[in-house]
Amino acid sequence: MNSVMLVTGGAGFIGSNFVHEWFRQHPEGHVVVLDALTYAGHRESLAGLEGRPGFQFIHGDIADMACVSAILAEHQPAALVNFAAESHVDRSIHGPGDFIRTNVNGTFTLLEAARSYWQGLSASAQAAFRFLHVSTDEVYGSLSADDAPFAETHPYQPNSPYSASKAASDHLVRAWFHTYGLPVLTTNCSNNYGPFHYPEKLIPLVILNALAGRPLPIYGNGSNVRDWLFVTDHCAAIRRVLAAGVPGETYNVGGWNEKTNLEVVHTICARLDALHPREDGKSYAEQIQFVTDRPGHDQRYAIDASKLARELGWKPEETFETGIEKTVHWYLEHQDWVRAVTGGAFDAWLKNHYK
Ligand code: NAD
Ligand code: DAU
Repeated sequence: MNSVMLVTGGAGFIGSNFVHEWFRQHPEGHVVVLDALTYAGHRESLAGLEGRPGFQFIHGDIADMACVSAILAEHQPAALVNFAAESHVDRSIHGPGDFIRTNVNGTFTLLEAARSYWQGLSASAQAAFRFLHVSTDEVYGSLSADDAPFAETHPYQPNSPYSASKAASDHLVRAWFHTYGLPVLTTNCSNNYGPFHYPEKLIPLVILNALAGRPLPIYGNGSNVRDWLFVTDHCAAIRRVLAAGVPGETYNVGGWNEKTNLEVVHTICARLDALHPREDGKSYAEQIQFVTDRPGHDQRYAIDASKLARELGWKPEETFETGIEKTVHWYLEHQDWVRAVTGGAFDAWLKNHYK
């Protein structure tokens, strides 16, 4: 594909993986990344792409109308994929303001800038244009153990400031399709893991804390359930929806792979025990520590991704076992990246949040 794609939030975890994967699939591709480089955005995650033909990085804010409009006018993208967001539930509990600003106001600004740009395109370019909004399963709320997984028709019942802000953004995206005809697509995905995952999130936090000899903090009793998807499978799903999704539709993306947090942490410890044993010969599982629960902690997420399989033929390639193996290897081999994205502000977050 030679047409230009604008990727917002492309210096974050999923966005950077998406851009790397895009160039793997489309070596002649043309991607412009717009990212505000918040604490979660790092150019180191795009390091291998800097200077490559077809790749351009722009430091800017999705809530800045002048900036977004100028980028659209200059680069004339055929698609916009929006990963830019505040993404960490715990941070949204400490301070929800940034979540409203970026996830709600920022998405609104992107939609308005895209609408104005799109309305000025030729009829054929209008028909081909796509605005793909990357969202989360957390908008659907929490499930009990025996509830069916979330389908696209499940009511929105967000419980945290983060999920409420994402739900609001999804509603805006939907409205811009119904009211203005902007060709939007929305994906609602479960928990991702893999390379370039910022270590405030459970899986990378546990890997790095284990290696550093620190406690492995498990909220409550560790029985909360998440559905885990290796990040490159999510990227493939987004590419598929971009290529063949029906404008105005939403698509759930998931790994059919539910695990309790305790299972996840034990799996990581077992892989680390095998690949990088502790000097004293004991298991990393000895470092597990149960800590105060997250307020309003959703008990269970599970995704019914059958629409995406049935209509667009997507299914995940990695199992949890293969994905975790790759992830643990990646962190062991990329301590330089870890050092670049941690330190000062990250240590302050750990100290403040985990006391
Ligand atoms: P992340 O926090 O790792 O990255 C977010 C990126 O957005 C960062 O590079 C950050 O600098 C950038 N950003 C933040 N505010 C911005 C702004 N105002 N303007 C421009 N850039 C800004 O997040 P992630 O885990 O990669 O998630 C990406 C998207 O996918 C989010 O919308 C998130 O809600 C969604 N999602 C994440 C997961 C997951 O498990 N991580 C699962 C489903 C959906
Ligand atoms: O479901 C998709 C969502 O997954 C995305 O929309 C979010 O952006 C992403 O951050 C993730 O949200 P979670 O809250 O599920 O991810 P997190 O890694 O923060 O937590 C995963 C589970 O582990 C959750 O039940 C809380 C628990 N946990 C988390 C941390 C950071 C712990 O037990 N201890 C911890 O220290």
